[in-house]
Amino acid sequence: MYEWIKALHVIAVIAWIAGMLYLPRLFVYHCEAEAGSKQSETFKLMERRLLKAIINPAMIVTWLAGLYLAWAGQFLSAGWFHGKLLLVLLLSGVHGFFSRCVKDFAADRNTRSQKFYRVINEVPTILMVGIVILVVVKPF
Ligand code: HEM
Repeated sequence: MYEWIKALHVIAVIAWIAGMLYLPRLFVYHCEAEAGSKQSETFKLMERRLLKAIINPAMIVTWLAGLYLAWAGQFLSAGWFHGKLLLVLLLSGVHGFFSRCVKDFAADRNTRSQKFYRVINEVPTILMVGIVILVVVKPF
């Protein structure tokens, strides 16, 4: 059972992170499209679908399966697990922020620059590297 849940966890993690890397790329290109243009409306649709159909459900499955693994594997008091939890909470915060950005673009009221989205695009990558090292190497 444990190994099956772990497989589910890793599958959900892949979908979540893939979406979290792709969504800010869409924001970068969306910045170039004029508000009200056909291109801008297409980006709105892509962003909403990516968030609702992939990123949100993948995050929920990742959390549920991850918490089960932590409980069943008795990792709740392990140092590496606390570090991982902190980084995953930060990643969830970035997720919440991206979801606000989708709403802002949908209402044509984005004020953030293309450069801003290029920089924030790197944050999920950095968090993902830290999370994977903590859970696989378990350095403390
Ligand atoms: C959402 C909260 C999360 C919780 C509570 C959680 C918890 C856990 C636990 C307890 C394990 C089992 C470790 C073991 O059997 O040694 C695990 C496995 C794993 N987690 Fe998470 N996790 C979460 C999110 C993530 C995220 C966001 C990533 C990647 C960015 C990730 C990547 C992995 C990987 C790759 C494994 C397999 C490690 C191995 O088998 O050596 N997890 N997770």
